[in-house]
Amino acid sequence: MEPRFRLLLLSLFLLLVACIPFNAESMCRKSCGLALASYYIWPGSNLTYIATLFKSRFVTGPQDIANYNKNSKDYTRVNVPFPCECINGDFLGYTFQYSVSNYDTYESIAVYYSNLVTAEWLMSINFVDPTDEYYPTDEYYPNNNEKVSVPVNCSCGDINVSKDYGLFITYPLRPEDSLESIANRTKLDPLLLLRFNPGVDFSQGSGLVYIPGKDVNGNYVPFHLSTRGLRGGVIAGISAGVVAALLLFAFCAYVRYCRRKKVWEKKLPVEHTSRKTVRVMKAYGSIIGYSVEKSTEFSYQELANATNNFNLANKIGQGGFGGIYYAELNGERTAIKKMDKKASKEFLAELKVMTRVHHLNLVRLIGYCIKGSLFLVYEYIDNGNLSQHLQDSDRKPLSWSNRIQIALDSARGIEYIHEHTTPVYIHRDIKSANILIDKYFHGKVADFGLAKLIDVGGSSVPTDKMAGTFGYMPPEYIFGKVSPKVDVYAFGVVLYELISAKEAVIKDGDEIKGLVALFDEVFKQPDPTEGLKKLVEPRLGDNYSMDSVFKLAQLAKACTETDPQQRPKMRSVVLALGTLSSGSAIENWDFLL
Ligand SMILES: Nc1ncnc2c1ncn2[C@@H]1O[C@H](COP(=O)(O)OP(=O)(O)OP(=O)(O)O)[C@@H](O)[C@H]1O
Ligand SMILES: *[C@@H]1O[C@H](CO)[C@@H](O)[C@H](O)[C@H]1NC(C)=O
Ligand SMILES: *[C@@H]1O[C@H](CO)[C@@H](O)[C@H](O)[C@H]1NC(C)=O
Ligand SMILES: *[C@@H]1O[C@H](CO)[C@@H](O)[C@H](O)[C@H]1NC(C)=O
Ligand SMILES: *[C@@H]1O[C@H](CO)[C@@H](O)[C@H](O)[C@H]1NC(C)=O
Repeated sequence: MEPRFRLLLLSLFLLLVACIPFNAESMCRKSCGLALASYYIWPGSNLTYIATLFKSRFVTGPQDIANYNKNSKDYTRVNVPFPCECINGDFLGYTFQYSVSNYDTYESIAVYYSNLVTAEWLMSINFVDPTDEYYPTDEYYPNNNEKVSVPVNCSCGDINVSKDYGLFITYPLRPEDSLESIANRTKLDPLLLLRFNPGVDFSQGSGLVYIPGKDVNGNYVPFHLSTRGLRGGVIAGISAGVVAALLLFAFCAYVRYCRRKKVWEKKLPVEHTSRKTVRVMKAYGSIIGYSVEKSTEFSYQELANATNNFNLANKIGQGGFGGIYYAELNGERTAIKKMDKKASKEFLAELKVMTRVHHLNLVRLIGYCIKGSLFLVYEYIDNGNLSQHLQDSDRKPLSWSNRIQIALDSARGIEYIHEHTTPVYIHRDIKSANILIDKYFHGKVADFGLAKLIDVGGSSVPTDKMAGTFGYMPPEYIFGKVSPKVDVYAFGVVLYELISAKEAVIKDGDEIKGLVALFDEVFKQPDPTEGLKKLVEPRLGDNYSMDSVFKLAQLAKACTETDPQQRPKMRSVVLALGTLSSGSAIENWDFLL
């Protein structure tokens, strides 16, 4: 019985693997490697210019584009070959890098790309919220020379519609287009076009459709998929060998999954949070993932030159270990953390691990240097830390939606080190001063500092000082009990800070009180709403929803439970904050526990 049952599961699993690339429209596993972009030639543009816009492994100069249009009689459009990749399992496309020049807006960039992208899609990929009052679509000018990621979607076809087509033109519709005119021009069956683009009105004047295209020799290409990285032409089809390998792989994977069911559990909840945000973040993350290779070793001379010999004028912060200096290295803005000599071999080993930890919501480590002191080079984050935003009355108060976003961002960063790295890490010093804010008011967790990383599974790394900050440390910590729930507790304190803009430890006359105790008192009252209202940062005025405040406080309360077991996992916290940030009401919060 048992083996037969396994076989059944195995076939189900295989079916799943085989179906995913074809059915979920916004998900992908595999790609066909190549697609064409239909570029509407506006007056003043030329192939040289188009080639610079669509630079990729398929286009290095205008000739590469010309090759694909040898037999074209349509002089209003050219087909531009570009890589069609499965971007982080979420959608098929390719991300071009556009170097911003004077007066570019997201809308003008969309026009340069012949409306193959929309301003909204550009903004979300580049992490600008189009509804954000700070950056209206047509007014926000990206900085000069800044690189903007331009994601162009592609299609690999659909084996259920036809197996004869596997190369597709991403075609932005224009007002003069109709189903008939396109069918006429391409000599393709209008019904076929409709089936490849279900529900699309070809006369709508804008938006993308996917039309079968011809390869460089003028032939249609049959349907094919492969894993990313392999060139389109290499894999003509799935051979029996590949199927066998797939079977073997699937079987091994299946056995593994059986052994470690946890893997499944881990993967599930992330997808439930605000889907759009997750998708955008993952896409963005994968872009960053490509540009950041291994971290580099810098020479002391480079760092000294870039900081004017660690001049006081370059100093932007002071941490427990030493100063933090601003520097431009290889054109990138960085923050260099100088640490004293205690750095030993264990620290170096940790550094190696840190270079593998890449996440959008963790401050990125760019490189390091060991010479006298230990230097860590991080990406520079523009907007200071969360504590400054909450405490500094010279700064504009953070809006309520900014606060939720920052909470969600940092929760994601912490969840990542708790659940998605091997080995798994505990930050041990989560606090508002260690959450940095970028120029778009997104949060990034910083200072997941060397001494504070600890291997949960195996032997723990010896640390030279008791990590942590008073006010953020959970009760069990005093007894030396360290688990990821330590970070959950500290994160709960940060949530209370976001609500009240009070410090983690409050001095009230001679009495010293923790923020957690202050909120606990309120929750003990029969109706906590009144008490909570009094704790909300006054500078917010009426610009918040009490409902949202209440839910955030409840979440913070769950995070700061005395019993670590009662605290939710970071995964659930992300889930809860995702719901809160997308604004949908959630009545029952029991799933947290
Ligand atoms: N990448 C960065 N970009 C911009 N500013 C930064 C960056 N890293 C740190 N800073 C600034 O320097 C301050 C101190 O940094 P950090 O907390 O990493 O130091 P630390 O030595 O680990 O301090 P502690 O151990 O007390 O937390 C931060 O609060 C922030 O204002
Ligand atoms: C393709 O066909 C298979 C088998 O007929 C079916 O299970 C699947 O849902 C179809 N996919 C799409 C996208 O229609
Ligand atoms: C090509 O187009 C770009 C952008 O419009 C323009 O700056 C450039 O002068 C053009 N080159 C030629 C040779 O026409
Ligand atoms: C590209 O695909 C993504 C994901 O399916 C979608 O959200 C986006 O709107 C598409 N872009 C355009 C310009 O149609
Ligand atoms: C399609 O092409 C035929 C001739 O090839 C022409 O008579 C007809 O008007 C065209 N239809 C459209 C909508 O362009």
